[in-house]
Amino acid sequence: MQPYAHPSDHIQLHDLLFVPLFSEAKVRERVRELGATLSQQYHNKTPLFISILSGAFVFASDLMRDFDGNCEVGFVKLSSYTGTQSSGRVQTVMGLEKDLKDRHLIVVEDIVDTGRTLHFFLDHLRSQGPASICTVTFLRKPEALAFPVQVDHAGFDIENRFVVGYGLDYEGLGRNLPGVYQLIE
Ligand code: XMP
Ligand code: MG
Repeated sequence: MQPYAHPSDHIQLHDLLFVPLFSEAKVRERVRELGATLSQQYHNKTPLFISILSGAFVFASDLMRDFDGNCEVGFVKLSSYTGTQSSGRVQTVMGLEKDLKDRHLIVVEDIVDTGRTLHFFLDHLRSQGPASICTVTFLRKPEALAFPVQVDHAGFDIENRFVVGYGLDYEGLGRNLPGVYQLIE
């Protein structure tokens, strides 16, 4: 599909149109706050950030650099989405190679929608005997929540609409947008 003329702040990805929701400045400000909160919470604890790929890589990268103190990072690839709808399954695509026993874990998610991904993954982490687990998500859709997951820190609560940017994609596009955009329905 060819791009067509539309208001300049709109973004077209494939066949869909998106409008700005959070600016780059607003996102950076909020992520800095979360980094400061975690820096206090984990003072002298050398936490292991676990970034859920692919969507959380942008958030995790900023959050780590806003963390003041020693920390490590690991990556895990899980997936439950195709297009703009949850597929209903969670698959571990790429596992963690680190030993999680007695570690302080900070799970970094891009967005908690139904909570299925995080619910599944937290069960897996608990079975590895960590010292503690904390969950941080950039975005959360409270209306969509269907699984009992504990989210310790959320960047922003949003309405139940599909969003892209800051790591989040629509069919592969939009991850490099520095702000967040919401689908026009
Ligand atoms: P669940 O339902 O498991 O979903 O909490 C979490 C995962 O689904 C993806 N997701 C989205 N991706 N825009 C996206 O680009 C969205 O609005 C959206 N909602 C859910 C995302 O990969 C997340 O990890
Ligand atoms: Mg995605």
